[in-house]
Amino acid sequence: TFTPRVFSGIKPSGGLTLGNYLGAIKRFVDMQGGEFETIYCVADMHAITVWQDPEELRQATREVTAGFLASGIDPESSVLFNQSRVSAHAELGWLFNCVARVGWMNRMTQFKDKAGKNAEKVSLGLYAYPSLMAADILLYHATHVPVGEDQKQHVELTRDIAAKFNHDYKVDFFPACEPVIEGPAMRVMSLRDGTKKMSKSGESDMERINMTDDADTISKKFKKSRTDPEVLPEEMEGLANRPEARNLVNIYAALANMTGEEVLAEYGGQGWGKFKPALAELAVEHLAPISTEMKRLMDDPAEIDRILAKGADKANEIAQPILNKTFEIMGF
Ligand code: ADP
Ligand code: NA
Repeated sequence: TFTPRVFSGIKPSGGLTLGNYLGAIKRFVDMQGGEFETIYCVADMHAITVWQDPEELRQATREVTAGFLASGIDPESSVLFNQSRVSAHAELGWLFNCVARVGWMNRMTQFKDKAGKNAEKVSLGLYAYPSLMAADILLYHATHVPVGEDQKQHVELTRDIAAKFNHDYKVDFFPACEPVIEGPAMRVMSLRDGTKKMSKSGESDMERINMTDDADTISKKFKKSRTDPEVLPEEMEGLANRPEARNLVNIYAALANMTGEEVLAEYGGQGWGKFKPALAELAVEHLAPISTEMKRLMDDPAEIDRILAKGADKANEIAQPILNKTFEIMGF
């Protein structure tokens, strides 16, 4: 049996969005200090699967760290570190490249989406990304992996790698980790197109809420978000074919720690003139203090680097024995 342990990470590939916050960071905070040990990683080695300017990468690593801290990740009660500082990630990633099958990678929908028609030109790292992600998780024998819905297939691949390793080497060494995908915010969509994921790299800044947006910007973006002419229904089923409306209700629910049904019990029958200002106000109340604290933390990059270095020491203490044992099992 394995210690109940949570692992998750975020790539420093640009600024953090409300999707990262509600789909990941807020849930990481909720899981901290309870039944689980919690380990959170700034996945800088994943970021370079696509080109990153070195100075921007350094800045983004600090910004993601500031986002974690400002949102309530406590480096005393969680392990908070950046991936490149714990070399066992790269080492186990290589070992898993030799366990995972090419056919498994070929089925990854995120690779197909990101590579598009350009599959011959993208980095080999982008293709092998899920194998490094499996290493991130299994290096800590993590049992639970909170992620947004877009990462579900990669967590399933992690289970496949663990199972094949255990089978091939006749051991019971790596746990079968569970993806934890729940709540109304597992898929936060663009504010301009309810069928597209809100992401760091969307074309227009109006599509997304950045965690560093100030109160006026947050408010303006929600008020100008795309919707439809209908009033809100009484039940979630009424939103089935209204992706923009459903997205705003889900965002409200996630921010207020409510279910979509509870939000509609309050706002069903109301129009956007009532709901959008309420949502904007809720979002500002929740996010503005976080963005203020992020800016304060970013003013002292040396302190952020110290926190990450201490976190890396703690991460290494767990990771190194597991890596050593893996080498031994494999015959090194
Ligand atoms: P991104 O997807 O923003 O490039 P990552 O791949 O590093 O960044 O994602 C970090 C975490 O944030 C993952 O768990 C991912 O599922 C979650 N996430 C990212 N965007 C969203 C979104 N729009 N809705 C819900 N979760 C999201
Ligand atoms: Na992602």
